Amino acid sequence: MDLSITVNGIRFPNPFLLGSGPPGTNARVIAKSYDAGWGGAVAKTISLESSKVVNVVPRYGKLRSRSNGEVIGFENIELISDRPIEVWLEEFRQIKKDYPNNVLIASIMEEYDKGRWQELTRVVQDTGVDAFELNFSCPHGMTERKMGSEMGEHPDLAEEVTGWVTEVAKIPVWAKMTPNITNIKEPAAAAVRGGAHGISAINTILSVIGVNLDTLRPMPTVEGYSVPGGYSSQAVKPIALRMVSQLALSLPKETSISGIGGIETAHDAIEFMLLGASTVQICTGVMLKGVKMVDELREGLAKFMADKGFNSVQEIVGKSLPYFSTHMDLVSRMKEAKRHKAGEASRDNEWAQKDITEKTAELTSD
Ligand SMILES: Cc1cc2nc3c(=O)[nH]c(=O)nc-3n(C[C@H](O)[C@H](O)[C@H](O)COP(=O)(O)O)c2cc1C
Repeated sequence: MDLSITVNGIRFPNPFLLGSGPPGTNARVIAKSYDAGWGGAVAKTISLESSKVVNVVPRYGKLRSRSNGEVIGFENIELISDRPIEVWLEEFRQIKKDYPNNVLIASIMEEYDKGRWQELTRVVQDTGVDAFELNFSCPHGMTERKMGSEMGEHPDLAEEVTGWVTEVAKIPVWAKMTPNITNIKEPAAAAVRGGAHGISAINTILSVIGVNLDTLRPMPTVEGYSVPGGYSSQAVKPIALRMVSQLALSLPKETSISGIGGIETAHDAIEFMLLGASTVQICTGVMLKGVKMVDELREGLAKFMADKGFNSVQEIVGKSLPYFSTHMDLVSRMKEAKRHKAGEASRDNEWAQKDITEKTAELTSD
């Protein structure tokens, strides 16, 4: 089964991409994912000065199912990559040389400064990466330097910064949205006005994973203290699906959507596609299950296509969108269905009555 899809002129061997984060933290793990069968990867977010990025330990927290202990929610207070830009540029070159047919997307983030954004865009573009993803969405840490979701939460900034990048970019540009906003359509539309070719959604949801009842400290606890972090994994999928569907229904047709948030199985991924995503990204799922999970994703998608008679991945994209409506419309559809059923019932009654009358007439005729 051919699982390829062409998005913004780029051919993806399949729609499954590593989401930006630990799964794409260096060239070695990205190469491993391509070998395992992933169509592409969004590398861990990079900036010009890695020395300003200092991570803490511990930086992860898990929410487990009460019934079987499975991880259903995941919080992180991890920052963007702390590896030097020169190392990344060399690795991007090497990956593209070794894997010309797999898609490599560079995730970039900078301070509110045109010169810095354009310099980062230029040097990364020169390595031959296929596209950019602008990180307007990391909800913690980087925001203290007015980076990440500070831009996704302010549509005017999202538009301006996207414009700086698209002014110098010769490859497609996706803007990654934060869900920590009332109306995700606004910053997404602003990024499109700034020239973005695609929208990625969602990044993590601001959260506090829990409080330690022995120490009374919120978690994850670093030397006794904590900060709210980003929530991901299975638990966020319904919110991500809602936001992806809102984007698909509101953005211009030619704007592509990359769906992210709680995807772990082919079933999850197909749901995002049916609601308008032409590619999907997986971050926490890969951290928990490993890159080999792509086998189930590919097999599950191929089986779904064969079972439902889809000839290409593109045909699936947005297929369920026409079935969103308004509450008033649902009410009138329900009333109509009731009337229809009542009509059928009274017709059945008439027939039954007619039957009895005819049978009685037969019996009494002699
Ligand atoms: C530990 C961790 C680190 C992350 N780092 C980044 C990052 O550097 N850049 C980025 O755009 N998103 C980052 N994310 C967000 C993910 O790419 C993704 O948008 C989010 O986790 C929801 O998808 P998931 O449920 O598949 O993880 C990170 C997520 C996690 C869990």
